[in-house]
Amino acid sequence: MGKNFQAYFVGAVSALGGFLFGYDIGVMSSILEMEYWKVYFNRPSSVEVGVIVSLLTAGCFVGSLAAGWIADKFSRKRTIMASSLVFCLGAAIQCGSRNRGMLIAGRFIAGLAVGCLSMAVPVFQSEIAPAHIRGRLVSLQQWAITWGLLIAFWIDYGCHFIDSDASWRIPMGIQIVPGIILFVAMFFIPYSPRWLVDHDQPEKAHQVLARLRANGDISAPEVLAELEEIKEAVRVERETAVRSYMELLRFPIRRRIILGVAIQALQQLTGINVIMYYATSIFKQSGLTGDNASLIAQGVNGVVNMLATVPAILWIDRWGRRKTLIFGSLGCGLTYFIKAVATGATQHKTYDEDGSLNLNLPTGTSYLAIVMMYLFVVSFAMSWGPIGWIYPSEIFPMHMRSKANSITTASNWLFNFVIGLVAPILIKKITWGLDLIFAIIMFASVGIIYLFFPETKNRSLEEMEVIFTGSAWAHKDRKRIDEYDITVQHNIDAKVADK
Ligand code: BGC
Repeated sequence: MGKNFQAYFVGAVSALGGFLFGYDIGVMSSILEMEYWKVYFNRPSSVEVGVIVSLLTAGCFVGSLAAGWIADKFSRKRTIMASSLVFCLGAAIQCGSRNRGMLIAGRFIAGLAVGCLSMAVPVFQSEIAPAHIRGRLVSLQQWAITWGLLIAFWIDYGCHFIDSDASWRIPMGIQIVPGIILFVAMFFIPYSPRWLVDHDQPEKAHQVLARLRANGDISAPEVLAELEEIKEAVRVERETAVRSYMELLRFPIRRRIILGVAIQALQQLTGINVIMYYATSIFKQSGLTGDNASLIAQGVNGVVNMLATVPAILWIDRWGRRKTLIFGSLGCGLTYFIKAVATGATQHKTYDEDGSLNLNLPTGTSYLAIVMMYLFVVSFAMSWGPIGWIYPSEIFPMHMRSKANSITTASNWLFNFVIGLVAPILIKKITWGLDLIFAIIMFASVGIIYLFFPETKNRSLEEMEVIFTGSAWAHKDRKRIDEYDITVQHNIDAKVADK
């Protein structure tokens, strides 16, 4: 068996949490268009629809904030298990809804679970991963999110042909299956070795590390070395650390909190969810008339998103975080810019009787706009999608990792919520102006990443202390980090020579 098989296995099982995340945010968009759903809930107004949709993200926000404390106290593993049960409860309530109140409550409860999972899964994955494949393991969560979105979409599509309330109850109920699979599978997954050391169980941590790194060989040198590194880091942290949320605002954590919150906010400010939530209507506006054409274009979008995440899984630990984000931002910015210019130059707005907007684009522009949307999704999926989750999960010291990630994750959900709320208004009001705003944000983010975000690939979680305690100008701090690397290499060479 390959040396890292166990680490991959554990990373893949926990990634199922990402599947629940993707499925639940994806499932609602097409259900909203189903006639049986509209009739059953008495044709909710657009404000009521907004509440139903956004209560999930509101639940996620609350869940991610609570998860910091829960995952520290009860472990990452138990947090994931409990969340999967709460998720099943939320899904069951949604599926069996008799009225709007039940539906909203079900969405909120499922949201609490998704929020917890979105914080606990990447932290757990990064704590069990060897440094050189950490990016890849955390990317598995992102891949699972894209699968969740994709499968939710196609299940909705299939069910919209059913001639009864089952058309919306089935897509909502079926998510209980992966929820139960995650719960059961987690019984076979170990606790995070870093959490075990922090909770005074070094012998157990030793065994887990042996299982994850060396097929169970407890005397393997890399296992012993990593165990010592973790113990030492926890010891030093205990001597110096005050374990309170206030510490997040002080040196040396404050800088990382700002970067973590910024990267999660920027991930949402790429505008990815404008496409994920509203693509069907954007496709319609761009000239794909007929329900099926725009629905299928949205389904293809889901496939593109899932496929374009694969290169990130394979190569993110080689490309590094900085370079990937910079190229990702350039790709996102350019595609927005081209779409904005082409649409702005050729659109001719008219409104249907039901108030929906048509841009009446010439065929050429309308195809160009659709291709640009797909290319935007490719750029996002290869960069901001995975790294938005990887970076915060790897930059904090053990004693603050969980609390800090709950704050950074909550910032993701907050921006997700706000963008989900204002986007439909802006799409209608300023059309291509919204693309232009996102293009500007993306071009600005190139500078932000270059100036402020240090590279973290291949660093052990313990080494982050060195990376993040120098100058806040990441591009100027490279020399110091190179010198650190040279010293480490000297020490290793000296040890080898001694032997
Ligand atoms: C984002 C989600 C988004 C998804 C799309 C995730 O990384 O956090 O908001 O819907 O990617 O694939």
